[in-house]
Order: sequence, then C-alpha cells, then structure tokens
Amino acid sequence: MERSLVLIKPDAVKSKNVGNIISIYEKNDFQIEQIKILIPDELLLSRHYEEHKGKDFYGELIEFMRSDRVVAMVLSGNNAIKEIRRINGSTNPFEAEEGTIRKTYGTGLTMNAVHSSASNEEAEREISIWFQQ
Ligand code: CMP
Repeated sequence: MERSLVLIKPDAVKSKNVGNIISIYEKNDFQIEQIKILIPDELLLSRHYEEHKGKDFYGELIEFMRSDRVVAMVLSGNNAIKEIRRINGSTNPFEAEEGTIRKTYGTGLTMNAVHSSASNEEAEREISIWFQQ
C-alpha cells in the first residue's frame, strides 16, 4: 500500500469537475485518507514547488495555484505513485493519453487539472506540507 498527495488545481475546481475527478480515483480503487479545500498561500506553494524555483514557468505556476481553491487529498492504494500518475496522464494535456484526467480536464501546461507525487519520498514530503498534524 502506497500514499500519494493529489491536488485538484483551481482550473478543475472552477469548472466544477472535483466530483468527476475524485470518482475516477475511487473507480480505480484508491481510498481517500485525508481531504480538504483551501486557497494555498505563497509560502505553502513555495515549499511544495521547491524543485521548480528559478524555472521560467515558476511565477506563472505559483500565481495560478494561489488564484482560487485547491482540493488537497491523500490517496492510498496499490502502486499509488505510479498508477495515479498513469491515470493523470502526461503533464502537458495536449500530449496526454486519451481517457486520462489531464487529457479530459486540462487546458494547458499550467492549467493541467491535477498534481500527484512523483515518488514515495516526495509523497511524504508533500503530505507533511499540506497536512501538518
Ligand atoms: P505539477 O504536477 O503540478 O508540477 C509542476 C507543474 O508546473 C506542472 O504540474 C505543470 O502544471 C507546471 N508547468 C508549467 N510549465 C511546465 C513545463 N514547461 N514543464 C513542466 N511543468 C510545467
């Protein structure tokens, strides 16, 4: 059993696809362990996206992520890291496979509907940022 930190980004919250997206994870047998909705502040986002600091898309990404509500979830299940990334599809919705969340709901590289953790280490780091106990 693995855990992943999944974010439903402001574009998908605004377009009222939260329920549709959560249903996809549930149908794929993932369990919601924790869930909340919030407008993240700059400090939280700078910690979450630490590895992207200095990249040309960083400013636009942070502005977008703090522009409206984000649903943050901890999902658990078999092979959660790899499987959830497969279900999400490629980072760029225009390159994402048919039937994936980003292909269906994403509209651009920044507005790509969802984020999920890239590794077990990243998942634990990201969960501690979004869900301080
Ligand atoms: P996410 O999984 O949230 O991780 C970093 C985000 O940066 C990524 O999804 C995209 O939404 C965004 N992004 C914008 N431009 C790029 C880019 N050129 N390469 C990778 N990620 C990008």
